[in-house]
Amino acid sequence: MTSDATTKTFTLTNDQTGESTKLNVLDGAEGPPVIDVRSMYADTGHFTFDPSFSSTGSCKSRITYIDGEKGILLHRGYSIEELAEKSTFLEVAHLLLNGDLPNKNQFENFKHDITYHTMVHEQINYFYRGFRRDAHPMAVMCGVVGGLSSFYHDSLDIWDPEQREISAHRLIAKIPTLAAMSYKYSLGQPFMYPRNDLSFAENFLYMCFGLPPEPYVVNPVLANAMDKILILHADHEQNASTSTVRLAGSSQANPFACISAGIASLWGPAHGGANQAVLEMLDEIGHKDNIPEYLERAKNKDDPFRLMGFGHRVYKNFDPRAGVLKKACDEVLEDLGINDPRLELAMELERIALEDPYFVDRKLFPNVDFYSGIILKAMGFPTSMFTVLFAVARTVGWVSQWKEMIEEPSHRIGRPRQLYIGAEKRPYVPINKRK
Ligand code: SDX
Repeated sequence: MTSDATTKTFTLTNDQTGESTKLNVLDGAEGPPVIDVRSMYADTGHFTFDPSFSSTGSCKSRITYIDGEKGILLHRGYSIEELAEKSTFLEVAHLLLNGDLPNKNQFENFKHDITYHTMVHEQINYFYRGFRRDAHPMAVMCGVVGGLSSFYHDSLDIWDPEQREISAHRLIAKIPTLAAMSYKYSLGQPFMYPRNDLSFAENFLYMCFGLPPEPYVVNPVLANAMDKILILHADHEQNASTSTVRLAGSSQANPFACISAGIASLWGPAHGGANQAVLEMLDEIGHKDNIPEYLERAKNKDDPFRLMGFGHRVYKNFDPRAGVLKKACDEVLEDLGINDPRLELAMELERIALEDPYFVDRKLFPNVDFYSGIILKAMGFPTSMFTVLFAVARTVGWVSQWKEMIEEPSHRIGRPRQLYIGAEKRPYVPINKRK
C-alpha cells in the first residue's frame, strides 16, 4: 500500500516573486515516482500543462504495470508472457478484476457467473435491425452497449459492491455475445445463442462462425489462439480508452455507459483501430518492392501516412505482446496451412524499418496491433471485426479499472483545466453592425 506521506519533495521557485513551493514526491511499488501537484494551483496560482498526458499520472492503480524502456508488462505482478503461455483469458479476467489468480473453487464460481450471464435480453436483438447491414460493427457496439443499461436497472447502483460485481460480470459475459451478433448481423446470418458447455474463447468462435443447420466443431488451435489474443489485449494501464472509461466513471455514470465510451475511444486508428489499419496498410503496400516508398511516406511530416502497428507512447522497446502474437501467428498459419503473403510482407517491413535510423532513433517498434490482424484474418474474421475483438478483451481491463476507481475512497470527478489562448472579453455587436 503506498501512502501520500513522504519526506521527499520538489521545490518550485517563482523566478518573478522568489516564492518557493514544496511539492511532495510519492513513490509507487514500481516505476517512476510522481510529483504530487494536487495543491499546486492553490499554492502557486499555476496549472500544469500536459495535453497528451505524456508526463502525467492520472491515478493510483494496482492492476497493470508497464516499463516502456524494458518492454515489461505485468498484470497484478504476473508477466504477460507467463500469463499468455500458462493461463486462460477467464483466469486473467479474475486476476484483473479481483487482484489474484483464482483457486479452483474461486475459478469454478467465477466461470459459472460469467457463463450464466452470456445471454442477452431478446429485445436487444431489435437494436441491430436499426443499423444498415454494412454498418461498421464498432458503431453497432457503441450503440448496443450504451443501451444495455436500460435492461439492468437492478445493477446500476455503483455504490453497492454486489451491483458493481454483477454489472462487471454482465459486461464481461455479454460483450462477446453482442460482438458476435454484430458480426452475424453484417452477414445476414442468424444470431447464435451462447453455449454453456464451451470455454469463453470456444463459445465466442462458435457464436461467430457457427450456423444453425450444422454442428460447429471448434478447432482447438484457433480456440487457443483466440484465448491468447484475448489475454494479450485484456488491459494496458491508463491508455486512451481506459482513461476514457475512468473519466466517464468519475461522473458516476453507470458502468454500461462507461464501457460504451471506452469502445468509442478504442475505435480510433491511433489506438485499437490500428489492427484494422495494419491490414489495410499491408494491402495498400502490396509488395515488398514498395516498402521503401511507404517508409519514406511514413517519415514525411507533410504526409498523413504512418506505419500502422508501429510506435507506442509508452514502449520505447519491443511491445512484449507483439512477440507473443508473432509466435501465435506462425502457429495458426502453419496449422491452417495458410501461406498469407501479408505475413511475409509484414516481416520484411519490420526488418527494413528496424534498420532505418528514423524508426530506430525514435524507438518505433512493432506494437500489439502489428501482427494481431494477420492472425485474425487467418481465423476468418473480416478486418472490420478486428477492433471489436480488441474491445471484447479490453472490456475486462475497463471494468477492472472502473471498479478500482469507484472503490478508491478519495476519487473525485475528473475535471482538467486549460491554457486559454482565445479572445479577450469584448462587447456584443448586432448583426447589422458586423463587417
Ligand atoms: C495501441 O496506450 C496504449 O497502451 C495503447 C495500446 C493498448 O493496449 O491500449 O497499446 C494499444 O493503441 C497501440 C498503438 C496502436 N497505434 C498504431 O499502431 C498507430 C501508429 N502509431 C502512431 O500513431 C503512434 O506511434 C502512437 C499513436 C502509437 C503513439 O503516438 P505518440 O506517443 O504521440 O508518438 P508521437 O506521435 O509523438 O511520435 C513520436 C515521433 C514523431 O516524429 P517526430 O515529431 O519526433 O519527428 O515518432 C513519429 C512521430 O511522427 N512516429 C511515427 C509513428 N509513430 C510515431 N512515424 C511513422 N509511423 C509511426 N507509426
